[in-house]
Order: sequence, then structure tokens, then C-alpha cells
Amino acid sequence: MSDDRLIVALDLPDALSALKLAEKLGDDVSFYKIGLGMLTGGGLAVANELKQEHGKRIFLDMKLFDIGATIENAVRGLAQFDLDFLTVHGDPHVVHAAKQGAAGSQTKILAVTILTSLDRADLDASLIRPGDIPDLVAERASRAFEAGADGVIASPQEAAMIRALPEAADRLIVTPGVRPTGAALGDQKRVATPAQAIHDGADHIVVGRPIWSAPDPRAAARAILDELNG
Ligand code: C5P
Repeated sequence: MSDDRLIVALDLPDALSALKLAEKLGDDVSFYKIGLGMLTGGGLAVANELKQEHGKRIFLDMKLFDIGATIENAVRGLAQFDLDFLTVHGDPHVVHAAKQGAAGSQTKILAVTILTSLDRADLDASLIRPGDIPDLVAERASRAFEAGADGVIASPQEAAMIRALPEAADRLIVTPGVRPTGAALGDQKRVATPAQAIHDGADHIVVGRPIWSAPDPRAAARAILDELNG
């Protein structure tokens, strides 16, 4: 059986290339992330096909943010796609509304705390209150859990700190920014290896380029799975 701790990010331009990649990865990969970049390229159709025809698990990375009523309606509509994970921003009113919208479905709501691409200067520009980013991340994670989030998205550097929060008991931590030993970093700055991320408390790791841009994506995925189990 494949190991669903590995989630492959399908950051590809269109449905056809995404389905081709999934075909190449075959039984080795059972969990896929589809994001905003593929939305206009047939992202929801890909999600549906991978789920219904191939029995894969689906993480739809929409990072929703809006007034509560709109979030609730949007999540209710998306949950009909039988999604496994859906992301929203971690603001308590958003998380709470998303959970209402997901009620009765098996879709788990994952909260984004602070985007890992933002530094303190960006937060200042957005009038986010002073404080070190790790402290703000921990506080946003706690509040998202209190509002009912099933889990959070976190950088591997934040995973251990979030895992240690009392509110994180039984909740999921999903970490992008994972690179197998020796892989190119791309634009990721704060990375960890698959084994380290899991050791630090992640339940799932999200890996994109090291797999989809590899000459042999299936071999790349297998190397990561070996590293997870090694
Ligand atoms: O190619 P790579 O492995 O860097 O892809 C990581 C995936 O995780 C991408 O889809 C990226 O958008 C997403 N992601 C991330 N960092 C975050 C949140 C999401 O890299 N903080």
C-alpha cells in the first residue's frame, strides 16, 4: 500500500499534464495537492478524476479568506467534491465558517498561519502587530485550533513548535518546503528533509518540484518514500 504521508503538489499548467504525471507516479503516490495555479486549467476536474476514477486522496489548496457567510457557502460547495483537505486562512472567523460549511462531509479544514514567503517588513506593511514571526505563528495556530481547524500548514521549522502546543493534540500538521537530501531548493528558503519534517511532528509532507521536474518522477517519489521509511 502506498504511504499517504507524501502529498505531491501538482503545480502544473493544465489538467492533461497533471493527469499524465499522476499516471507516471502510479500506485506509489496516493495523495495530491491541487492549488490556485491550476484552477483555470481544470483543477477541479482533475481533483474529481483522481478521486473518483483512481481512488486518490485530494488536498485542494485554495487558501480561502472572506466574510463568514461567503466562506461557509464556498466550503459547502467545494466539499461536494469529496475533498480530503481544504485550506483557508487561519483567522478564527474564517476557520469557524469553513468548519460549518464542511459539516456533514469528510473534508478536513487546514489553516494557514502566516505565509512563509512573508517577512517582518511585509507584516509591517500589512499593519500586522509587532512580534517575532515564530511567536505570531504559534499564536495563530492556537487560535485556528480553538476555532476548530483540523490542522495547520506549517514550514518544517515551525512543525516542532506547533506540535508542542496543547491545542495541537490530535490535529494535523502539513509541511511544504521539504527537500530530499541533495535536491535543488528552488525558491524555498527554510527547508527540511522528509524524515526531519516527520520527526518534528508533521503528519504529511508536500513535495512539488523535486518530483514533477525530475527526469524520472516515479523514482524521485520512491526515493522520498524510502527516506521517510529509512
Ligand atoms: O515545488 P515545491 O516542493 O516547493 O512545492 C511546494 C508546494 O507547497 C507548492 O505548491 C507551494 O505553493 C506550496 N506551499 C509552499 N509554502 C507554503 C505554502 C504552500 O511551498 N508556505
